Amino acid sequence: MDKLVIEGGRRLEGTLETSGAKNASLPILAAAILSKEPSVIKNVPCVADVFTMVRILKSIGAKVQHNGNTVEVDPSHIRHTVLTYKLVSTMRGSICFLGPLLARFGSAQVSFPGGCVIGPRPIDLHLKGVRCLGAEISLEHGYVTAKARRLKGARIYLGGAFGSSVLGSANIMMAATLAKGRTVIDNAACEPEVVDLGNFLRKMGAKIDGLGSPSIEIEGVKKLSGVSYSVIPDRIEAGTYMIAAAITKGDITIKNMNLNTLGAMLDKLREAGVIITQWHGHVRVRRERVLRPVSVTTLPYPGFPTDLQAQMTALMCVVPGISVITEKIYPNRFLHVSELNRMGAHIMLEGPSAIVSGQKKLSGAPVMASDLRASAALVLAGLVAEGVTEISRVYHLDRGYENLVAKLQSLGAKIGREKDVK
Ligand code: EPU
Repeated sequence: MDKLVIEGGRRLEGTLETSGAKNASLPILAAAILSKEPSVIKNVPCVADVFTMVRILKSIGAKVQHNGNTVEVDPSHIRHTVLTYKLVSTMRGSICFLGPLLARFGSAQVSFPGGCVIGPRPIDLHLKGVRCLGAEISLEHGYVTAKARRLKGARIYLGGAFGSSVLGSANIMMAATLAKGRTVIDNAACEPEVVDLGNFLRKMGAKIDGLGSPSIEIEGVKKLSGVSYSVIPDRIEAGTYMIAAAITKGDITIKNMNLNTLGAMLDKLREAGVIITQWHGHVRVRRERVLRPVSVTTLPYPGFPTDLQAQMTALMCVVPGISVITEKIYPNRFLHVSELNRMGAHIMLEGPSAIVSGQKKLSGAPVMASDLRASAALVLAGLVAEGVTEISRVYHLDRGYENLVAKLQSLGAKIGREKDVK
């Protein structure tokens, strides 16, 4: 296993480009099997979750060519509709094969994805959605088996205790594209990644209205075509680098990003005193003075994204004063807290809130990554900490950040990857 070694205290400066969005690429790769014709998907980030999706596609019989950031999926010879535990257990995103397999082949057997370190990850909304479309569902031996001759359009309310579901909306939208008649998803997720998937499906010939709103309408069609499509830039990656600029008192320009998709985060960074300017798709982020503490609550889009909560917590660790970070999507998503405290942060957990008492400095330490975004928070803390921070279990970061080390090095960070010989 590898570890990251960071020597903190360098101010980040320079320009970098955002990669394609992981959380748009995953459902789009699954959606490619809705057609019998090949699709070419561009701007797909080279991250471990994408490699897992490619393995799953190959396991069911799709032919896949993966060159750099382009994935060509030829789904004409798919023979299997079973996704085994071995394939699915490493990545929850694989649940988004349920809708496309069911819609195109009338049957899907997908290993139950189970929970993960950021808390329980139920799939009741996915199951409710496909049931409403007429599928028969059984749960046996750790597998979800879904069957339907042809799905039938329906009106589906897809909200749960924590609001809408991103992959649930994606799954049902994909399934409904080939269903008979009209489907309306109420309380659909409005996340830009769901919109991107919808745009991919529309290009394939799907009839979808209301993308980006909580009510998505889909008129089923008989077949979809293969297309060429380019995935949107990764707003969570961009947001992570924006915080990197803020935490290191840096000045960085991010090319190729749509700031409109990060409105809530922009608002909080500006409230804290970070200077953010935008021109022609470029965003400059700089910090020239001591920041103010801000309180943040994560919410479904357009609220503050849960996928940037850990990184924002890391920033508040070095901002004098008290800030409160409340997690409303995954109330247990605080695994970074104990590790940040090992680096000298003062964070107390009170239910779904982290109360952060900002310190003058953090101090480098050996820490352990626990999930993708928690790991990103530790990298940010390491960039500003005094001395050396060693982050083990770096495979979590490989799941979602393309070329993280090279990108940070290009901005002047002293960061490297080494074999962890523990
Ligand atoms: N939920 C249910 N029932 C369901 C599905 C979800 O109660 O059937 C709950 C969840 O437990 C959670 C909330 O609803 O409390 C929202 O979960 P959602 O379904 O929206 O999450 P997801 O679709 O499984 C995607 C991203 C996550 C991101 C969330 C929220 C992908 C591959 N994953 O997950 O990304 O945190 O939306 O925005 O798109 C990450 O990239 O690090 C990551 C975890």
